[in-house]
Amino acid sequence: MPLVELRNLTKIYNSGENEVRALSNVSLSISEGEFVAIIGQSGSGKSTLMNMLGCLDMPDSGEYLLEGENVATIPEETLAHIRNRRIGFIFQGFNLISSLNALENVELPLMYRGIRAKERFELAFSALSRVGIANRVRHRPSELSGGQQQRVAIARAIAAKPPILLADEPTGNLDSASGSEVMSILRDLHEEGKTIILITHDGTIASMANRIIRIVDGCVVDDTVS
Ligand SMILES: Nc1ncnc2c1ncn2[C@@H]1O[C@H](COP(=O)(O)OP(=O)(O)OP(=O)(O)O)[C@@H](O)[C@H]1O
Ligand SMILES: [Mg+2]
Repeated sequence: MPLVELRNLTKIYNSGENEVRALSNVSLSISEGEFVAIIGQSGSGKSTLMNMLGCLDMPDSGEYLLEGENVATIPEETLAHIRNRRIGFIFQGFNLISSLNALENVELPLMYRGIRAKERFELAFSALSRVGIANRVRHRPSELSGGQQQRVAIARAIAAKPPILLADEPTGNLDSASGSEVMSILRDLHEEGKTIILITHDGTIASMANRIIRIVDGCVVDDTVS
């Protein structure tokens, strides 16, 4: 059973006169343990696709099966649960909370999950160590470089050990050295068995994945395993 399966997924914004077909009959499946890059130009529908995959938005038609279950039939409360436990999100803009230090940023989603202080600290500290930030855990985002902030965001995404990581342009705001560091962390996580879905417009970044799915104007035009 594929981990993720999309069947003829279509997403339309502003249906009517100014309608935009952001995704048009997208069908694809991703198995556990794959490292997939989804590549496309600005406006091609990448973030729309990521929002679907992350259960943050629903398609207008078609089906999304996550671990064999049709997402449209899952109640919102359960979906929130899935977003919290099964999927780790990494964004281009890091999305860290500026008033919290690195450790607190990583602990926050664990707190929402009701994990107690001691275990929370252990999970957060171990994730921060994993991405090489153990010596900066009391620093706030403004006291960290862009690459370090993104590593904190990766720590936040992996702390609860979700099997799937969804990353939307995770290197988009980074210089090439920090971008390479982030990609090498993602590669290591893949080797450890995580399923990684990486969204990018950058061919060099995409080439670090094991499979490249190209989208143009909301349609899958190429799907190549290397
Ligand atoms: N909330 C929205 N309302 C209306 N149109 C939208 C909305 N979000 C996205 N679109 C349109 O849908 C299309 C796909 O947008 P999307 O954000 O998925 O592209 P993208 O590939 O992520 O682009 P980028 O590389 O610039 O982030 C674009 O034409 C965009 O203008
Ligand atoms: Mg986008």
